[in-house]
Amino acid sequence: MSALNTTALKIISSGKGILATDESTGTMTKRLESVNVISNSENRLKFRNILFSSEAMNNCIGGVILYDETIKQKVNSETISEIISKTDTIPGIKVDIGVKNLSSSKEEKITEGLDGLRERLNEYFSLGARFTKWRGVYKITETLPSKLAIFTNAHALARYSSLAQEAGMVPIVEPEVLMDGSHAYKECYKKTSEVIKRCFEELILQKVDLKGIILKPNMILPGNESNEKINSEQVAELTLKCLTENVPKEVPGIAFLSGGQTEVQATENLNMINLKNNSNFIITYSYGRALQQNALKYWSNNQDDINGTQEIFNHRAKMCTLAAKGQWNKELEKN
Ligand code: 13P
Repeated sequence: MSALNTTALKIISSGKGILATDESTGTMTKRLESVNVISNSENRLKFRNILFSSEAMNNCIGGVILYDETIKQKVNSETISEIISKTDTIPGIKVDIGVKNLSSSKEEKITEGLDGLRERLNEYFSLGARFTKWRGVYKITETLPSKLAIFTNAHALARYSSLAQEAGMVPIVEPEVLMDGSHAYKECYKKTSEVIKRCFEELILQKVDLKGIILKPNMILPGNESNEKINSEQVAELTLKCLTENVPKEVPGIAFLSGGQTEVQATENLNMINLKNNSNFIITYSYGRALQQNALKYWSNNQDDINGTQEIFNHRAKMCTLAAKGQWNKELEKN
């Protein structure tokens, strides 16, 4: 077993999942301002550190994705990586630097951050990171995502992955097909399949060790502006079909993004996917909003109540971990 494979398995085994706290400063500012909290580096750290020092870190969270600002911060002379590692959770880092308009298809995006990446990766390793994340983003319309967006983003994801592995870190490969829009779930299935297929063609071409990556895809869902309704059984069946048809068997695990689903929806769908999973993939969560939303809302009104905020986060992480084992049910949400 390679060291990268060992790290990947440690992050996602036994129902553990990933806490995504890698919101850029711009995104985190929107999230904090939406609950009337001033977004400064002190407040961003305050909220995040409440999560990092919670009970759920010991038994639910296998990895935390950090943002550049956070991995360089300290609490009482302890680095954030040290605080996270103490709970036997692995620190990770978002290494893309965000999206820009794709020059030949202006409605679409390309993720940037390859220039100087080798040096940045070495620095992050020295700061304690052992895995990394890069997000490609694709929009669905009748004609999009274009072949160009599918090819260029896959190429960048593979170049990033190869460099991350060279630096001794597990790359999380995140091709996110957005839920935004009025498309039908069948379109999401078709386009997500195309996107994931192309990503693996590039990863293989660029000799990325597939046993040392984690795939972070979206689930198959109808667009959030469509009137279509599908139940979690349909979500699970289509999502598993898409993954088993397009993800090579060497990949150890898949950790979904929540993508705008509510906390309970993201949990229910993950649970059903695990109940129906006949593949060898470990399937778990790498949630941002679906782990933090309620905790953030509570904290914004009760900033001195660290225990109360942690209780809400612990509950959510526990529900997600039960879903990653296929052991969740709606009744548990009431406790
Ligand atoms: P959400 O779970 O809020 O979609 O965030 C996950 C993530 O890391 C997006 O890049």
